[in-house]
Order: sequence, then C-alpha cells, then structure tokens
Amino acid sequence: MTKKVVFNPWEVSGEVNYNKLIKEFGVSNLKELPAVFNENILFRRKIVFAHRDIQRILEAVKNKKPFVMMTGLMPSGKFHIGHMILAKQMIFWQKLGAKIYIAVADIEAYNTRAQNLEESRKIALKEYITNYSALGLNLKKADIYFQSNRSDNAKKSNAYYKLQNLLSRYATFNEFKAVYGDITPGKMLSSLLQASDMLHPQLPEFEKPIPVLVPVGIDQDPHLRLARDISQRVKDYKFIQLSSTYHLFAPGLNSGKMSSSDPNSYIAMTDSPKEVETKIKKYAFSGGQATLEEHRKKGGNPDIDVSFQYLKMFFEQDDKKLAKIEQDYRSGKLLTGELKEYTIKKINAFLKEHQENMKKAEKDVERMFS
Ligand code: TRP
Repeated sequence: MTKKVVFNPWEVSGEVNYNKLIKEFGVSNLKELPAVFNENILFRRKIVFAHRDIQRILEAVKNKKPFVMMTGLMPSGKFHIGHMILAKQMIFWQKLGAKIYIAVADIEAYNTRAQNLEESRKIALKEYITNYSALGLNLKKADIYFQSNRSDNAKKSNAYYKLQNLLSRYATFNEFKAVYGDITPGKMLSSLLQASDMLHPQLPEFEKPIPVLVPVGIDQDPHLRLARDISQRVKDYKFIQLSSTYHLFAPGLNSGKMSSSDPNSYIAMTDSPKEVETKIKKYAFSGGQATLEEHRKKGGNPDIDVSFQYLKMFFEQDDKKLAKIEQDYRSGKLLTGELKEYTIKKINAFLKEHQENMKKAEKDVERMFS
C-alpha cells in the first residue's frame, strides 16, 4: 500500500525518506559525539540522526559555558510513546546543564488547526507537561510558556512579541512560498512566532547572546532555515546562529508515523497492560513471514518490524540483547509472536512505573500552573 506523501511543518503522512530530506534540506549527518552522548540510546542508536551547527553546542558543553535548549510542542491529543523521543532529549540536555525553554504552540494550533486556546492549554498541561515531569524533566528549572502568554513580566513579554514583528521585515513572500509551499497568513505568522521562540532567548531581556540548540523532528527544518536566514539579516540584534538536531519519527503501529490524531497508530502513556497487548498483537506491523515454515526458512525483517523498532528506540536499553534479538529475528530463530510477547512485557513494565510517576507529576503541574 503506498500512501500519498505529504511532508511539511504542519502535516506529515506517507513514507518519510530521510536520506532525501538530508540532501534536500542541507542538514548534516550526526557523526562521532563525545562519550556522554553515547550513554543515551537516542544518540547511540542514531535516532537523533542529523544536525545544523551542533559544534557550537558541543564546545559550550566541553568548556562548561552556558547554552540554551529551546523547543516547542504542538498540543494535539494524547501524549504517546513517540513523544518520548523529544521529551528524553529535553531531560538529557537539562542534565547536561542547558537552560531549558519550552514553547507551547497554542497560537500555532489556533491558526493552523483551528484549536482554541483553552483546549490547547488543557492538553498541554494534562498530557505533555505532566508526562515530561514524570519522565524526569525538572519543571522548576525549565522556562515553559504559552505562545499566547509569554510572560507576566511585561518587559520580557514585549521583547518576545516585538521580535516576531520586527523579523517580518527580513522575510520575503517568495521565501515563504519556497520554504513552505502552500502558505496562509496564519502559517506565516506562526513561522515568524516560531522564529521568535527560537531566537528570543538571546535578547537582553532573557539570556543575552548565547548558543541555542533546537531539537526537532525533521519536518520542522523549514522553520529553522527561515529563522537562521532572517536572524543574520536583522540589524537591530546580534544573534549567534541557531543550532539544531533532528530525530526520526516513531513508526505508528500500522507503520507510517505515530500520530495523536490517529488512535490506531499509537500506544498512549495511559494504556492498560491489556490495551498494550491487544495493540501490539493485533496491530503492530510485523516484519515476519506469513507462515511459520517460511519464517524459519527466510527469517524476518527487523528494519520494518514495528515491535523491534519500539525496542530499539525506547524499551531495550541493553545493546547486546537488542543485537541478539535482531540476529535471531533475521535468521528466523525468533518468531514474530515471541518478539511481540517480549515487546509487550517491556512496554508494560515501563508503563507501570511511568503511570506511578504520573501521580506525583499531576500534583506538581497543578501546583505550578494554576
Ligand atoms: N511547530 C512545532 C510543532 O509543530 C512547535 C513549536 C513551536 C516549536 N515553537 C517552536 C518547535 C520552537 C521548536 C522550536 O511541533
């Protein structure tokens, strides 16, 4: 089955050809990283696979100089295991010493998805922020804000919206069309606001010029290209060029991309053991062969097997075990049913602990944001 391919910052569907995007967008493959990065499976296993100007961030880490990690979330529906890819990077960077800025893209959701601000706030707090906290993000040491309400401090707030407005002079309509294809006034404003999200940590009202790393899915790179270009044209400010990293999308159960707008594609953090079992057994796309006999003979394909991909991205920390599973699956020694059983066990063990952690996180979020 080939689905229509749509790929832009507001919609991703169909198959994603990462190598093509790397070339087309002009981002670089992520090469050797310092040892601390290899402690994290996202970097070790190249789930975070590409970057722009990461050198500047690596230097800051090495020389113990301050830097910012800035990213954003689109508050759409349920938080699922795919969202952990970004959440775990936030936590990683926070532990490495980055100042954390997180934008809730409620204005963007309003303008590009017709979702009202109250709904966005509810989803952001209950789903995203609570899960970040339960996964280990220290909320007290993070600047988490809503695009519709940057800060109660008027100087800071003005600076953020002023920047968005001043930046518009340095972008042309043709540039918008070239970068985004189909463009509307709402999308145009959203990308300028996102440019301000990414650049405003460097304003005098915030940290002053400082290296900023923006970890995102590669669909967001058009926003980075625009922000990087205009940040060097604007004369009123001196910005250090933005750095960014790009991660893979988690595959949905039925392959494609895991997406909160398609309940059949995801495993939610609130799923029960039974739900996880059903989803993996019934829906998780298998790289195995149609019959047992054929599987023993030809072996399975872990590269397209969704259960295997979940183990690799999230649930099997042990490289040796993962390699053995991969090898046994490829050779036909390990059956699809067995691989699924193991994956279910791993996911459920993780979710049990996570759902415990959610209880405290809910209270913390309630205290901080009401
Ligand atoms: N557009 C992003 C998304 O759809 C959300 C976002 C808003 C963002 N501001 C940002 C991402 C700043 C990175 C940096 O997910």
